Amino acid sequence: MEVYSEGEKAKNHKPIIECPDSVKAGEEFEVRVYVSGHPNKVEHSIRWIEVYFEEDGRDFNPIMLSRSAFSEYVNPNVTLKVKLNRSGKIIALAYCNKHGLWENKREISVTE
Ligand SMILES: [Fe+2]
Repeated sequence: MEVYSEGEKAKNHKPIIECPDSVKAGEEFEVRVYVSGHPNKVEHSIRWIEVYFEEDGRDFNPIMLSRSAFSEYVNPNVTLKVKLNRSGKIIALAYCNKHGLWENKREISVTE
């Protein structure tokens, strides 16, 4: 299975991850994930976004943080309230019904 992250179509398919680069352990913060500039029609739209966390030092990864499905009436955009105890990587997947599965990743550092 292909998961894309680069190329001509990345600009309006690759999910954008907005979050702090560094957070304090156990303190809530926001992670926003969205796809920008994509058509939103039945025949061509972003159908879902999933967000995962790959925690440093964990035996089994990733941890699923959220799963959101969208109709063509809704912009593909989710905001999560998250608490972490260890550093790791936020991973976002966005699925377009015409152009497949797109991935982005972002490191997040957790301090005591
Ligand atoms: Fe598309």
